[in-house]
Amino acid sequence: MSTTESPAALAAAFDGVEVPYLLGQYEPVHDERDAVGLEVTGELPAGLRGTYLRNGPNPYFPPPGRYHVFDGDGMLHGVTLDGEGGASYRNRWIDSRGLRYERTLGHAVYGGLNEFAMPTPEALEAGGLYKNTANTNVIRHAGRLLALMEGAHPTEITAELATVGEYDFGGALHGAMTAHPRRDPATGELLIFGYSPFPPYLRYHVVDASGALVRSTEVPIGRAVMMHDFVTTPDHAVFFDLPAIFDGEALMSGGTPIRWQPEEGARIGVMPRDGEGADTVWIDVDPCYVFHFLNAHEAGGRIIVTGCRSEAMPTAFGDDPLPDAHVRPYLWRWEIDPVAGTVTDRQLDDRTGDFPRINDDVNGLPNRYGAHAHTRRWDQDGVEFDGVIWFDLERGTSVEHVHGPTSVCGETVFAPDPDGSAEDDGWLVSIVTDLAEGTSDFVVLDARDVAAGPVATVHLPRRVPFGFHGNWMPDDD
Ligand SMILES: [Fe+2]
Repeated sequence: MSTTESPAALAAAFDGVEVPYLLGQYEPVHDERDAVGLEVTGELPAGLRGTYLRNGPNPYFPPPGRYHVFDGDGMLHGVTLDGEGGASYRNRWIDSRGLRYERTLGHAVYGGLNEFAMPTPEALEAGGLYKNTANTNVIRHAGRLLALMEGAHPTEITAELATVGEYDFGGALHGAMTAHPRRDPATGELLIFGYSPFPPYLRYHVVDASGALVRSTEVPIGRAVMMHDFVTTPDHAVFFDLPAIFDGEALMSGGTPIRWQPEEGARIGVMPRDGEGADTVWIDVDPCYVFHFLNAHEAGGRIIVTGCRSEAMPTAFGDDPLPDAHVRPYLWRWEIDPVAGTVTDRQLDDRTGDFPRINDDVNGLPNRYGAHAHTRRWDQDGVEFDGVIWFDLERGTSVEHVHGPTSVCGETVFAPDPDGSAEDDGWLVSIVTDLAEGTSDFVVLDARDVAAGPVATVHLPRRVPFGFHGNWMPDDD
C-alpha cells in the first residue's frame, strides 16, 4: 500500500508509548521495504526455491486503548530465494478495511482484546465491529494467498503482498475462519473451523483442493470459547473445548472479553469427517489450555494428539491479572478412545515451548519428527524464544539449536526438500532477531543435521519484530 504518512512521522507517533508488547522484540517497524541481492553467509540449498512468508502484529498507529499482543495490524515479511544463492526481502502491511479508515483519520480508533470499544457508526460502516487485522498466519491454497486472523474472514493478498481484500470463498464462508487450517495431504482438502462469541459458536468447513468451500456443519458446543487450533486425521476432526470463555456482554461494554474459568470444565470433541457436527463425541478432560497442536493420527481405533499444553491459559485479557509464571506450555500427548469415551494423557518433554510444526505432508498421519520453539525465558515479564527443539518422537530424543545469547526468534517452519522422500528431508527456517544489534536474519538449518548449525543465513535489510506464523511456499507448488 502507499503510506499516507512518512515512516518518520509514524515512528514519532510511538514516542513515549511504553506498552510492554510494543517494546523490545515487539517494537513495530514503520515502513515497507524491498531489497534484492541480500548478503548470505553459508550456502543456500538449491532445493529452497520459493518464498517464506511470515505474518505478525505491527500496529500502524499507536493503539487507542490498552494494547494486547494479538491486536496489531498484520504485517507480512517475505524472504524469496531463487535456488541459485540469491535472496530478496519485502514487507507489507495488511491494508485492512479498518486500517484504511484509520488512515483517513490519521489515528487508530478500533478497540482490541484488552479494551473493546464500540466503533462509531462511520467506523462500523467502514471497517466493521472490530478490525480484521489478518495478523496471525498466511497460507497458500489452490494458488490463493490468504492472511488469516481467527476473528474474521481471510484476507486475500497478491504474490507481491498487496492486499486484495476480505475473501469469503465466493460467499460460502459464514462466520470467521481459524488462522490454523489443516490440510489433508491425501485429498488436498483444506479443513477449517470458525468460532464466534455469539451463536452458532463453532462451525467446521471443508475447502476442496480446487479452493471451493464445499461443506459446512455446525458443531454444537454450547458455549463460546477461544479455540485457536484443532487437529485432523483422515477420519476425524478433533476440537478442544477449553474454558477460555467469551463474555459477550462484557465484550460489548468494554469489559474483559475472555475469562479463564477452569471451574466450567473442559472437553475434547471427536467428529467423524464424513459425519455432521451433531455426531461429535465429547469426552471430559482436566482443564488446560492449548494454543497449538503438533499433529494427530489414528492408531487402532484411538486418536493420538500431540500439542503444547498449559495448566491454564498463558495469556490474559482486559482486567484479568497477568498469567502466573508457572503457566507454561509443554509438549503433551493425548490418547483418545472415542468409542469407550476415554482419554489418557501424559507430558512428553520437560522443556517449555510453543509454536509446534511438522512436515505438513504428514498432517493427520503418524509423524516421527516435529519442532517447537526453544524457550529462553517465560515469566511474568514476558516470553523469549531463542531457538528450536527438533524432536524424534519415535526414539524419544531431540536436538536443540539456540541462535545466540542476544537473539530471539519465533516459529520455525519445515521446508521440504523437493528431491527428498524421507519425513525429515528438508530444512528448518525461521527469522532470528539480534536484540543487541537490532538486526534480523533468515536462518536455514538442515533438518537432517540440526546439530551442525545453520547451513545458510540470509542477512535481512532490517529488524523484523516478533511475529506469529508463517509458511514456506515453494515456487513449483
Ligand atoms: Fe497460532
